Amino acid sequence: MTDIITVNRDRLWRSLMDLAEIGAYDDERTGLRGVNRLALTDADAAGRRLVISWMEQAGLTVRIDKMGNIYGRRDGADPEARPVLTGSHIDSVATAGAFDGCLGVLGGIEVLRTLNERGITTRRPIEVAVFTEEEGVRFGTDMLGSAVAANRLTLDYAHALTDRDGATLGAELARTGFVGLAGERLDPPHAYVECHIEQGPVLAQAGVEIGVVTGVQGISWQEIIIHGRAAHAGTTPTELRADAGLAAAQIIVHLRAMVDSGSYDDLRATVGYLAVHPDLTNIVPARAELTVDLRNPDDTHMARAEQDLAAFLRTLEENGLSISTRRMAKTAYVPFDDTVQKVIARAADDHGLAHISLLSGAGHDAQEIAVLCPTAMIFVRGEYDGISHNPREYSTPEACAHGIDVLATTLLRLADQN
Ligand code: GLV
Ligand code: MN
Ligand code: MN
Repeated sequence: MTDIITVNRDRLWRSLMDLAEIGAYDDERTGLRGVNRLALTDADAAGRRLVISWMEQAGLTVRIDKMGNIYGRRDGADPEARPVLTGSHIDSVATAGAFDGCLGVLGGIEVLRTLNERGITTRRPIEVAVFTEEEGVRFGTDMLGSAVAANRLTLDYAHALTDRDGATLGAELARTGFVGLAGERLDPPHAYVECHIEQGPVLAQAGVEIGVVTGVQGISWQEIIIHGRAAHAGTTPTELRADAGLAAAQIIVHLRAMVDSGSYDDLRATVGYLAVHPDLTNIVPARAELTVDLRNPDDTHMARAEQDLAAFLRTLEENGLSISTRRMAKTAYVPFDDTVQKVIARAADDHGLAHISLLSGAGHDAQEIAVLCPTAMIFVRGEYDGISHNPREYSTPEACAHGIDVLATTLLRLADQN
């Protein structure tokens, strides 16, 4: 019997498009339909219910843990064998497309539907996971559900996190009905493989279909609050101002200069959130709040970049401002398992799909699960330079199916290992 499996492309695509209807909105900037399904909102809850119904239709046994992570299990011939795990997330940023995370979850379910149709029994169980709050945009810490499952963060820490309106994650889990009965710590699986869109231009530029992911670069998120002094815009002499808005701008420019200096390896720096108070035309800002997102493939360079930013903040305080910082998230560079990468590369070869190896620029649940078991990822190429976190995010039905074909063959082979 062949162990090269191809999935149902049309059914996979329909699942992606159906889920994208939940939380859909008309995006004014692009004129496209986007997805806004922040973690544990009503839209996310509706998306979760739809995914659970698909898991149940596929005959999977569904369990939900205290972190709201959802697992759908297809039994194997050996009930004692540790399962092979796949999955990702279905929460989104507020301006998302249809693919980020969803491809990994719906692709995992599609693989199991395909195994059912072919009457294939694997030695090991296969499970599909849906991890809570991967994006981190609502409660401030990314890869949250998988980090709790992997024992890097505690359930208490996660439940106490608040969104910008003060709602706690624990309360939102309860409100949406997703505090499960299962313990939040995941027993180490046999292996974990996650298929995800690349979210970048590399695969398209290389002219290949599939990326074998070697690891994920480090991520550092912090919130900075600058306290200055509100004053009248017309009457307050410049030298008497403590302008929090100006300091926020100086931080943004300084970060870009750090990147351009080239002395922090391949540093990326983003200020994606900025708010000034009282946010009025004729008042010098009394307070500014911003977030800093740093990415770096090298932990030593990352540490130096963080220290240099901290030193710059101290110089700003010399201008009569006070500045506080709060750590939101921090993950080191995570290398993926060579053996699992080889299984993925061979599966791509067997499907006749060209592939390259590449490091992930984005964070993923796989980087958390990697501490529990051998882990790697499959990347699918995107159109339009791989734009993501944007309604223009798009991978063709063919590209999605190719990624999930490789996932199917990889899972099947891992699930038959001793
Ligand atoms: C995940 O979406 C990230 O921000 O890398
Ligand atoms: Mn994602
Ligand atoms: Mn994302």
